[in-house]
Amino acid sequence: MQSIWNGVKESDHRLSLDKDIKRDIVIVGGGISGLLMGYRLMQSGREATLIEANTLYSGVTHNTTAHLDAMQGYVYSDLIKTSPQKAKLYFQSQLDAIEEYQKIIDTYKIDCDFKRLDSFMFTINDMKKLEEEYNALKEIGADVELVKEKMLNIDIQGAIKLKNQAQFHPIKFLEKLPKEYEIIENTRVLKVDTKNKILYTQKAEIHANIIIIATGFPIIDIPGFYFLKMYKSSSYSIAFKGAKLDAVYQSDLENGLTYRGYDDYVIMGGLDHRTGRLNHKDKFNRLREKAELSFGKELEYTHTWTANDCITADGVPYAGQYSKSRKDIYVMTGYNKWGMTNSMASSKVICDLITQKPNKFIDLFSPQRKKTNPAHCVVNLLSTVKNLVFKPVSFPDRNVDALKPGEGDIVLYEGRKKAVYRDLDNRLYVVEPLCSHLKCQLKFNSETKTWDCPCHGSRFDIYGKIVVSPTTKNLKVHNGKE
Ligand code: FES
Repeated sequence: MQSIWNGVKESDHRLSLDKDIKRDIVIVGGGISGLLMGYRLMQSGREATLIEANTLYSGVTHNTTAHLDAMQGYVYSDLIKTSPQKAKLYFQSQLDAIEEYQKIIDTYKIDCDFKRLDSFMFTINDMKKLEEEYNALKEIGADVELVKEKMLNIDIQGAIKLKNQAQFHPIKFLEKLPKEYEIIENTRVLKVDTKNKILYTQKAEIHANIIIIATGFPIIDIPGFYFLKMYKSSSYSIAFKGAKLDAVYQSDLENGLTYRGYDDYVIMGGLDHRTGRLNHKDKFNRLREKAELSFGKELEYTHTWTANDCITADGVPYAGQYSKSRKDIYVMTGYNKWGMTNSMASSKVICDLITQKPNKFIDLFSPQRKKTNPAHCVVNLLSTVKNLVFKPVSFPDRNVDALKPGEGDIVLYEGRKKAVYRDLDNRLYVVEPLCSHLKCQLKFNSETKTWDCPCHGSRFDIYGKIVVSPTTKNLKVHNGKE
């Protein structure tokens, strides 16, 4: 399983950290958020150090479908209910982000397949909802059209068209994005002393004046409490040859399928679910079925991969001060599946906060903003309680012998509860069944062969190694090693 963006990374591997250091600004996370942050600080004349647990953009950034689109599901009809101004600002922040990509790409002549094109969002069965979104977009001044023609060989009820959106190759872009600042790779931040601004890694400490957490799901639990304000969503993507697209599409079908072209390929993504709660199996096959409905049977499937996104209550990211009580710690997270535009917008907000420049999006993106949905927090809390309190003390109803080849489950293994995967050659991979973040019980994802946490979305491979944060620790394996 690998993303279509694999294979173009050339940049040198940087050294890991083996002695204590003191730095002005430290960015934690070497995905697109961290790198845009480093770039902006560099442009503003501030010295930053970026620290990445693995290698640059090897995590979530690699798994994006890289749409640069201000039309984002039904976000505007939701936002406009509480504040038309907020809806308008959010739309503007997304358009500005696309412009900013174009500006950087033009300035540095970055060859990253950046292309402007039209975007369509269609429905097959809920025209009322689509019209509501269209009206909201109109009200905030978006230049949108309502169209009814058949698209992607699907009989739609209607679609909203927004011109001049974009797509690109994220890794080619990041490879050439200037990085004249310090970068440390293969060094995981295990803990942060937020009062004294000390980052602890396996071998050394970093003392900082300012810390920016750009790890996807934030790795600091308290203060901030992002694990109550957000949840993680998993989605699935495929790429194939045999069809072409010259626009980007999204549907309200099956939790939002997206379609885009790249070179000789079409990329389709979607079928989302809350991480750790795989609702239906065969996600990739279902995507292939959808692809064949639109593009016929003669397709050559080349790539499959999964992505993880942080979802906020109001559809707007959190970018700004980590918590009211921690002045020099910042966070950028909660991109709600629109990571490319929102990482650009968030990096600008934080850079302007640090350099004390005005920015009209600061309040909109503020993690301390008033509008948080209490129901969203309660649902997250209940989910945590259920998986944290009840599941860990429950007893597995299956023994390891019942596991079929290719299957993983929480079972009884040598008289104890363990997370066990049996491979196709009948080898067993045995790890601890509780997440190393806050000890929720893990669930096996048969599509990705990972152990996923239903509480805050950490994911681990069958060897217990971290695939996705917020956890900072691998799972203990059966023989006691991590
Ligand atoms: Fe928080 Fe697993 S990610 S308990």
